[in-house]
Order: sequence, then structure tokens, then C-alpha cells
Amino acid sequence: MGFRKDFLWGGATAANQYEGGWQEGGRGPANTDVMTKGSKDQARGVTYVLPDGSEHLTRGVAVKDLPKGAEFKVLEGYTYPSHEAVDFYHHYKEDIALFAELGFKTYRMSISWPRIYPTGMEEEPNEEGLKFYDDVFDELHKYKIEPMVTLHHFEVPLALTNTWGAWADRRTIGCFIRFCRTVFERYKNKVKYWLTFNEINNIYFGFLSSGIPADDMNITMQAAHHQFVASAMAVKLGREINPDFRIGCMLAASRCTVYPATCNPLDIQKAWEQAGRQYFFTDVQCRGYYPSYQLKFMERNGIHIHMEDGDEEILKEGTVDFISLSYYRSMITSATPEKGSDPLLLGAINPYLKATEWGIAIDPLGFRITLHNLYDRYQLPLMIVENGIGAADEVGEDGVVHDDYRIDFFRSHIQAMKDAVELDGVDVMGYTSWGPIDIVSAGTGEMRKRYGFIYVDKDDENGGTLKRTKKDSFLWYKKVIASNGEDLD
Ligand code: BG6
Repeated sequence: MGFRKDFLWGGATAANQYEGGWQEGGRGPANTDVMTKGSKDQARGVTYVLPDGSEHLTRGVAVKDLPKGAEFKVLEGYTYPSHEAVDFYHHYKEDIALFAELGFKTYRMSISWPRIYPTGMEEEPNEEGLKFYDDVFDELHKYKIEPMVTLHHFEVPLALTNTWGAWADRRTIGCFIRFCRTVFERYKNKVKYWLTFNEINNIYFGFLSSGIPADDMNITMQAAHHQFVASAMAVKLGREINPDFRIGCMLAASRCTVYPATCNPLDIQKAWEQAGRQYFFTDVQCRGYYPSYQLKFMERNGIHIHMEDGDEEILKEGTVDFISLSYYRSMITSATPEKGSDPLLLGAINPYLKATEWGIAIDPLGFRITLHNLYDRYQLPLMIVENGIGAADEVGEDGVVHDDYRIDFFRSHIQAMKDAVELDGVDVMGYTSWGPIDIVSAGTGEMRKRYGFIYVDKDDENGGTLKRTKKDSFLWYKKVIASNGEDLD
């Protein structure tokens, strides 16, 4: 009973939300560096210039109706949260020491692609960037923390977006594989666990997740195909470089947790279809081929993707070793959604659940159901690499954040994961909470939406000392890890 002895407890971050140092050590700009701050009521912006020199901002994580000749660029007068983020670049020793104090067995992080290949197109990597991650991995190993590395966490060299539309173009595969070869070879004795594409099914958020300068289903699905091929090639290559590597895919599993609003079969069919739009990604990465229902869906909706000779072989040969996933919430949907609701993103409000300040439904039982479904579907080990609650923490008069709500969230979700293991027999390898330290929000670019056990003194206007302080949840999570998930009080 309980979790495996070697259960991988830890926390997860992403370079574009945590690292900062955007122009240091030879790093090039990324798609995420031209994204401005938003809020819960206003989408993030993306800045660009036109050939006539005029400067513009378009709102939305998927870029719509872009004028011809637009070049994405950092402009004066805007706040770009990724540039400094919370400066892991200069604080990594201090932060890793805090992760060690929490008892982390693993730390999931991403390598910033433009830190290694500044434009994505160079023949040779940037040694200073490689050295930075060497130092980070060495620091982790000093505390016996196993790194788990995401190769693509929403971040693409901006030059690839400006030159040919990033993943919309097949040439990006070659650039990505060159990057993978470099880091696999360099860190083959320092990193064992790798994830290919973070939340691959969030490619629907074109610009934010993959640097795609368009909002068009044909382009999105073609780009997804390029990512499938790149993921499979990376898996194959990684295994050749070190047969001990364990390489996983990564799914935003909240999007598969879609409940029908009523027991009307039409609602049930709708929920099933919407979950299918997400599961299909894992189907390809775990089974090695496109499922028939997705091929039919694309045919019905006039979505045509171009596959090259040999792609089917590549997909077959590059299936993953395990499935990693994020889970934050469940969603509901109806065949007749109320006017204005967005069935793919949020669905309607679930009256049986409470929600966070950002409208995220809190559903631990949905977590267990999701784990059960995924395991049943693929029979592969599951690694939960993101789970957590974004909240506007207040620092108390004693200088400490008393975040009981966060402890409650984690307690109920870790219990649900335990139920999945003990009651449903799901094989779970480990659990890394999202943002164990406060970082920039991907969706809104805010600092105000905090996930951490560690508070960072930084505000939405780029102010603050960057000082790190432990919240109440810090001690609680430490105890959970020390007891291998037995003590959740
Ligand atoms: C996931 C992403 O979608 O959710 C993370 O992989 C992101 O990068 C996390 O930060 C939480 O979302 P948000 O918008 O609250 O930061």
C-alpha cells in the first residue's frame, strides 16, 4: 500500500517563467519574450513591428489576423514578465538549497532552447548556455536531486517564428533535433528523465505554447504533426545516445477531464468528443499512430495535414516510456453551451465545485478519475509533473504567508492520487507540484497568481527585492515528502 519507495517527489518550473537572464550568457530572444503581462480579465499581448516601422500590440495567446510582414519584437514601454522572471539564473544555488530542504527527490525544469541555440539555426551551440545547465545539474546532484528536463516548454527561438513561423514549418524539426542531440550528448550522464513537449495538446494556444504566428486549425494541426515527428525522433535519438534514458510525453490532462452538464446523451457525446480532441495527442505518442476517430474528425472538418514518406515509421518507432501530465481542474460541457461560453477552454461553471479566484474548478476526485482513465487507456507509468493552486497570497504582519488554502488543495489532491494508486492500482512514478517557488504565470503573465511553497518578493510592475521566504505550506510539503505521502495532516 502507499507510494513506491522510490517515488519521485518534487516540484516543477519552466525556464521562460522562472529563469530570467534573457539577454545574458549569449541567450537569444524567445517567442515568450515578446509577450506582455495580462490579467485574469485581459489576455496577454504580443508586440510586433510592420515594415513601415509602426509598432503594434495584439492581445491573445493565439495571434489572429496578423498583417503581412509583421516582425515580432521587444518594444519600449511594455512590461515583459519573462525577461527577469524571478531570476533563477542568478539565484539557482539558493533555490536548489531550498528544494533540498523540502526533500525533493526530483526537480523538473526546462532548458531554454534559445540559450543553447540563440536563433535556433546556428550550426554550433552556445557554450555559455550549456555551461549554465551543467552548473545547475551539478548543484542538483550535490543534494541527490534527480533532474527531469522538459525539452520544449512553450519556448522557441524568436528567429524561428519570424523567419518561417516556427512549428508551422517542417524545417523547425531539424533545428529542434539538433538542439536535442546537443543536450542529450552533453548531459547524458547528468540527466536520466526527459520530457519532449510540455502540454503538447496546448498547441491550440499557438503563439504562447509554440511560437506559431497564426490562429488557424489547418496550421495548428500541421504544426502538431511536426511536433509528433520531432518528439518521436527525439525519443529514438535519446535511446541511441543513452539506453538508460527514460523519455516521456506530457499532456495537459485537465482538458481530458470533461464532464457532461447533464445525462442527455448529446451532452455525453460532446464531453467525449472534447476529451478525444486531447487524448488523440497521447494516442499518437504512446501508440505510434493517429487514431481513426481523429482522422475522421479532421476529414469532416476539412483539416488536411501533409505527412512525408517515412513519418508513419518514425511515429511508430518513437513511442514514449511513460506519460507525464499536468492536472489543475475539471471542466464541464454541454451540447448547447450558454451564449458566450467557450466549450474548448472552460465550459460552464460546475455547481458542485468551488473555484479559485481565477475561476479554476477545484476537483480532486476528477484527478483520481483522470489518472485512472489514462492508466487504463495506455497501461504506461504516469508521472504527475504539474498540480497546484494559483492564489493571490498576502504576506502577514509577521512577514509570512499563511496559505492554509494551498495546504488544503495539496492535501486533497495528493490523497486523490493515493486513492488512484491504492484503490485503482494506477502505476504512479512521482509527483512534482507546479511552481514550488513563485514564478510568472504562463496564462496571464502575472506574479500575483502564485503557486509556490516559497514566496518571492516580486510584483507585477517588476518591483521587489526577489527575496525568498518560506510559506506555511513549505513545512507541510516537507513533511509529506519525508513520510512518502503518508502524513497529510
Ligand atoms: C500549465 C503550464 O499549463 O499550467 C505552465 O505547463 C503554467 O507553464 C501552468 O504555468 C499554470 O498556468 P498559469 O497560467 O496559472 O501559469
